[in-house]
Amino acid sequence: MLYKIETYGCQMNVHESEKIAGILEYLGYKETDDIKNSDIIVFNTCCIRDNAEKKVLGNIGAVKKLKREKKELIVCVVGCMTQQFGKAEELKKKYPFINIILGTSNLYRLKEHVESIREGRKKTIIDIETNEKPKVIEGESIYRTSGANAWVNIMYGCNNFCTYCIVPYVRGRERSRAFNDIISEVRELVANGYKEITLLGQNVNSYGHDLDDERATFAKLLQAVADIDGDFRIRFMTSHPKDLTDDVIDVIARNEKICNNIHLPIQSGSNKILRLMNRHYTREYYLDLVEKIKRKIPSVGITTDIMVGFPYEEEEDFNDTLDLVKKARYSSAFTFIYSVRRGTKAAEMPQVDEDVKSERIQKLIKVQNEITRELSREYENKIERILVEDVNPKDGSMLMGRTDSGRLVNFHGDKAEIGTFVNVKISRSQSATLFGEVVK
Ligand code: 5AD
Ligand code: SF4
Repeated sequence: MLYKIETYGCQMNVHESEKIAGILEYLGYKETDDIKNSDIIVFNTCCIRDNAEKKVLGNIGAVKKLKREKKELIVCVVGCMTQQFGKAEELKKKYPFINIILGTSNLYRLKEHVESIREGRKKTIIDIETNEKPKVIEGESIYRTSGANAWVNIMYGCNNFCTYCIVPYVRGRERSRAFNDIISEVRELVANGYKEITLLGQNVNSYGHDLDDERATFAKLLQAVADIDGDFRIRFMTSHPKDLTDDVIDVIARNEKICNNIHLPIQSGSNKILRLMNRHYTREYYLDLVEKIKRKIPSVGITTDIMVGFPYEEEEDFNDTLDLVKKARYSSAFTFIYSVRRGTKAAEMPQVDEDVKSERIQKLIKVQNEITRELSREYENKIERILVEDVNPKDGSMLMGRTDSGRLVNFHGDKAEIGTFVNVKISRSQSATLFGEVVK
């Protein structure tokens, strides 16, 4: 029996798919690349932006034919999209062939639901989370797929209610995992040979605010993870600028194991827009923060998320964004066109013209690409410690891995080196990518 999981959206979803795979492997399924051969298909959905949602819906629709040819095929839809208001019923109506619709916090119940369907006890199951603060589930079996890197959730949900964002509605309020559960998981991963641990949360800096445990702050957690014996590195995402405190910056600066890489979404460079977005910081505060990080961690790579075309964004506001991008000098940026999310505050605001949005994003990408290129050149002739991740999918003769600061590097080497650290002298760069050779 074979399974296929289609994952959309962020790292959080990639990791959740590893949990889904853990359940399906336990049930005796094996992974397949070919959707046509599968006995169970799981769509792990994302609804953070309109295009992500459209893509999922298109692909679910395409399964109708498969299901007609193979009656016993089990079709599951899980993840953020299912949790949107009224969406589960809508999905069921539009795609009656779906067997299981499962909310974000109920993944662990996939096992019992698949069994019910398989044994013919039920034809359709809708299991959406209605509690805003569901219980944190421990002890899940995880089928890890990301090589030398292991993802570790430290918290779930979000309390911030940025006015454009659907996440707090579909993933509920912040819930932190217990300090000891996280440390035990990381210890076991390191003992099993994982070389990179990525701590995940919508806003990792507010880790522990909901726990009655004075050790449970993000800075202390980072330090405790770094204190675990072994040669491995630590990454984390995402940091909300309003909550990134000095103690966290200091822990990163002090510890070799914690990568000098911070993902710090700015969203907009205009104070007017930041206020409308409910972001709780100003461009001045943010630029001071960036300067402080760069002073304390000179080799840091800062990355960001930026949106254009948020309601009320005028030329002047967009120019503030361009100006901030030039000042912050990000090593790279994820750029997005704002899209309306039903049920959020910004959905009620007057919308910016689509042509204006696309013109702005083109301009923004151009400015950021130039900065990325310039910063890439600064790596040339330097020796960087790289964790070898995989063979380059575009050129089988090359390996690839990342610098401590998060830059992708391509170099010649032996496949046996995958999962180890090597020193690479950077010889040239091409936009965001670096090329080099291993030095002993
Ligand atoms: N439209 C466009 N981009 C969005 N993001 C979140 N919500 C929206 C939306 N409605 C972006 C933000 C966030 C990233 C994960 O997705 O930049 O940081
Ligand atoms: Fe969404 Fe804001 Fe929470 Fe990030 S911090 S998940 S953008 S509401």
